[in-house]
Amino acid sequence: MKGIIDNTATEQTMPRHIAVVMDGNGRWANKRHLPRAAGHKAGVGSTRKIVEHCAKKNIEALTIFAFSSENWNRPKSEVSALMALFVSTITAEVKKLHKKNVCVKFIGDRTRFSEKLQNSINDAEILTTDNSGLHLNIAANYGGRWDVVNACKQIAEQVKNNKTSIQDIDETMFDSFVSLSELPAPDLFIRTGGEQRISNFLIWQLAYSELYFVDTLWPDFAEDDLDAALTWYAGRQRRFGKTGQQLMEEKVAEN
Ligand code: FPP
Repeated sequence: MKGIIDNTATEQTMPRHIAVVMDGNGRWANKRHLPRAAGHKAGVGSTRKIVEHCAKKNIEALTIFAFSSENWNRPKSEVSALMALFVSTITAEVKKLHKKNVCVKFIGDRTRFSEKLQNSINDAEILTTDNSGLHLNIAANYGGRWDVVNACKQIAEQVKNNKTSIQDIDETMFDSFVSLSELPAPDLFIRTGGEQRISNFLIWQLAYSELYFVDTLWPDFAEDDLDAALTWYAGRQRRFGKTGQQLMEEKVAEN
């Protein structure tokens, strides 16, 4: 069930949807006197571990920030290394993901990528489209503000063509035009690498997510670190604007 305006998750101890900013690859490499690209390569190892761990734990969806719309501003050599890494990683991993029943989707504006990368993205999505296991969403050339503006443009187009009216625009309707609208909103947001910000990730979708920040650099982030985040999440009380007292009363009424 779609969950952005879904208040039913209060009693869940496991998140249905986890969003991750995989930060710290560059610093991991610097500490080892390696080029930054080596940090991104090492980061792929953590990504693989975390995807497999989420699948094993029956998490419904995992959305990872692989490349932001602002990352084009990095040195040309790093951007090229990342693009090459995306092609090689997608090509190498997609069959294994397919065997694990993972459904892979990309969010973001893919039109700026090379034809080769766009082809590997399309192939991965087509191959895994019917899989019923973990939904793995890879944000690439993605920005939260882009996502919101993109939704606005689509709605404006519908109003212009008399397919909808301004009165019909509400949060639920708007939500159906942003990325990941078919999934529940992320319950848990994780950012590695010590920074405490959202950095233009899923700004609309994260409105009610629990935010977890950890100093561990992404290439060092492993299964037990995810378990620690899950334990932290299980201790959160998700109130969605209600009071703790109301939640207690609702719980008593249920039983
Ligand atoms: C941020 O660390 C990380 C990135 C911009 C790239 C993340 C990409 C991967 C881990 C590869 C995943 C691959 C696929 C195909 C999903 P940073 O470079 O900002 O680190 P820093 O803050 O230490 O400099």
